[in-house]
Amino acid sequence: MSKAERDVDRLRVAILISGGGSNMMTLLDDMGRDDHLATPVIVIANRPDAGGLAKAPANGVAAQCIDHKAFDSRSEFEDALHRALLDAAPDLICLAGFMRILSAEFVAKWEGRILNIHPSLLPKYKGLHTHACAIEAGDDLHGCTVHHVTAALDDGPIIGQATVRIAVDDTPESLAARVLVQEHLLYPKALRIACESIIQN
Ligand code: GRF
Repeated sequence: MSKAERDVDRLRVAILISGGGSNMMTLLDDMGRDDHLATPVIVIANRPDAGGLAKAPANGVAAQCIDHKAFDSRSEFEDALHRALLDAAPDLICLAGFMRILSAEFVAKWEGRILNIHPSLLPKYKGLHTHACAIEAGDDLHGCTVHHVTAALDDGPIIGQATVRIAVDDTPESLAARVLVQEHLLYPKALRIACESIIQN
């Protein structure tokens, strides 16, 4: 069976990025396995300097930049993003290091089909600077969460979490590096769970 023949029956996954795309790469690698239920159909970055834009085509996936700075408003950016996603017709959208907050109006158009990975043990530490917050709070454990995206920031139903023990000499940078390793393990597992859920319902 050719890859094209194999992919025609698979769920379609769009991946949104803003940076290097390390989480994107783990998802692409896992979807390249024969037992996966999904195939990547598009990578979209909101920044032209996103390193992941070059990595996607090298892995056989179309990539495009919709630069949020090229639009006069958030809604115009989101309209362009929505149109690009309609063209790609994904069953699931994976936010992977995507650093734009999506409006409730946009989320409502894709609700139930957007996943996000967040570098904290939600519901703790929504938003930014999560590693510094965990250290400053004196927490013993930190980690990452994959969740369904809803209108509220970093607040949707949780699909999976991974934990990291905070060391006494941890800095936000050293902790972030260990959390990122766990993100790369968690997100592929979480995407598989989400795919199974779609197939079974
Ligand atoms: C990391 O900060 C991670 O915690 C968050 O996005 C960044 C990784 O970006 N989820 P990328 O996947 O390497 O682009």
